Amino acid sequence: MVRVFTFASGKGGTGKTTVTVNLGTSLAQFGKNTIIMDADIGMANLGLAIGLEDVPITLHEVLAGKANINDAIYEGPAGVKVVPSGISLQGFQQANPERLRDVLNEMVDRCDYLLIDAPAGISRDGVIPLAVADDVVLVVNPELSSIVDALKTKILTEVVGGHVLGVIINRAGVEKPELVSQKMEKVLGVKVIGTIPEDPNIRRAASFKIPVVIKYPGSGSSVAIKKIAASLAGITYDEKSVETKDKFIERFAKVLFRGKK
Ligand SMILES: Nc1ncnc2c1ncn2[C@@H]1O[C@H](COP(=O)(O)OP(=O)(O)O)[C@@H](O)[C@H]1O
Ligand SMILES: [Mg+2]
Repeated sequence: MVRVFTFASGKGGTGKTTVTVNLGTSLAQFGKNTIIMDADIGMANLGLAIGLEDVPITLHEVLAGKANINDAIYEGPAGVKVVPSGISLQGFQQANPERLRDVLNEMVDRCDYLLIDAPAGISRDGVIPLAVADDVVLVVNPELSSIVDALKTKILTEVVGGHVLGVIINRAGVEKPELVSQKMEKVLGVKVIGTIPEDPNIRRAASFKIPVVIKYPGSGSSVAIKKIAASLAGITYDEKSVETKDKFIERFAKVLFRGKK
């Protein structure tokens, strides 16, 4: 049986797409049959994050009734399957978000994990991913405005009958992680399932359209993301051995490709 996670936030820019792409890639690396889907059909950027922005058939065409979901599933990094949304405004206008529920129902037998990148805000179509997921994960930055937005999203999820599993704190700074977690849990009333540090490697990897967990596997953000993926999948994650191996590969690759872009 598939487990469906939706990654949501109040405002845009907290890191939903980054988290969805990298958790999905990590789960695929762990050998799990995983699909990531861009349900942010208005401001689609999941495809862009992994170089799938030019594909002919996307979730837009499926939601417009012009294509079958099978034709909108692409192979992504580490074998993760990807359902991108289109970036054209016309495609967005023709897509009927009400169909999303049926599309998701069609996908449940095809994978172990389905990760949905939800749109920000509280639009009508935005609530479908909150309602249909087994678990909603709030992606929050450690700032008051982001926490307040997340609280609204949590309440909205509960209103539409969804379940909030917990919070991922993204772009954590120098403040002690335990203190930030405690504050977050107190305000939001849900547990913190992981903390991802602010890490320039995320943008660096994005410029190559490669997930950071593949491009810079030994970086702080990658290690944090892999830990979260392991906990979602119920896998024990041996941080030390993976970290050392990844750091070695990274160093080796640097020496090998020194001087090349
Ligand atoms: N932990 C992080 N450290 C540094 N930059 C990050 C981090 N997480 C996300 N970003 C950057 O923040 C921007 C917004 O992230 P994105 O995943 O697109 O957010 P959303 O999907 O919520 O709008 C992107 O440029 C991304 O590279
Ligand atoms: Mg996004």
